[in-house]
Amino acid sequence: MPSSSKILGDQHDRPLPKAVPSKDSSEEKSKNNIGYFIVGAIFILAVIFLNSDTSSGAGACDGDSNLPCDYDTTVSPEENTLQPSSFNFATSFSNEGLIDLETVGICDGNHNYSVSAHAFLQSPNYPNNYDPFLECTTRFSTNSDGLTFEFTKFEVEHGFDNLVFRDSSAEEYAFSGIQTGMTVSFSSSYVDVHFESDHSVEDSGFSLKVKAGYESSFDAEDLY
Ligand SMILES: *[C@@H]1O[C@H](CO)[C@@H](O)[C@H](O)[C@H]1NC(C)=O
Repeated sequence: MPSSSKILGDQHDRPLPKAVPSKDSSEEKSKNNIGYFIVGAIFILAVIFLNSDTSSGAGACDGDSNLPCDYDTTVSPEENTLQPSSFNFATSFSNEGLIDLETVGICDGNHNYSVSAHAFLQSPNYPNNYDPFLECTTRFSTNSDGLTFEFTKFEVEHGFDNLVFRDSSAEEYAFSGIQTGMTVSFSSSYVDVHFESDHSVEDSGFSLKVKAGYESSFDAEDLY
């Protein structure tokens, strides 16, 4: 490599070796040129190989999409980090009737609230930080054609704390990290909303608007 002369030159207290015969030096140069050519060729072949591997690999794993084999469809696309796919949802609820225009907390109890216009759902202590070790479920029901949730504010610990929606066909959709501005809609007569936080790193949590009515442009299925 050409750097060898530079190393020698840096050793100021030693005499530099006397001029090498020009014949050797040109041989050395052509050897180096061959070396560069081989390294370059290997690099180009490696790039071609890696590109072809990526495009054929994804198809081989999942016939109808480009998702990687280990993609977890139960968490949002931005935050997909192989979350556990089953959360500890409550399974029985007390019916609390209509709560139009009211604000409820997700950890107020295992309540089933009915919505015909809209209501609000918040994390504990909002807008201050929620607590660690939470496992809370609230059910929303409607006589309308579905339910739509607007994320007025959403900041939970990325990857470890999750807000999970489960529709009446038990499909789960989890959200984590910063998702303020997100809207998600379900064509379901009820939706269970579940929040889990782990032992550390709490955030300000969430404030959601819960609206009666399905909005197809925000269908939960299309987010995944
Ligand atoms: C929720 O509560 C309402 C009464 O407020 C009740 O009519 C409805 O059946 C309940 N829905 C579910 C899914 O538990």
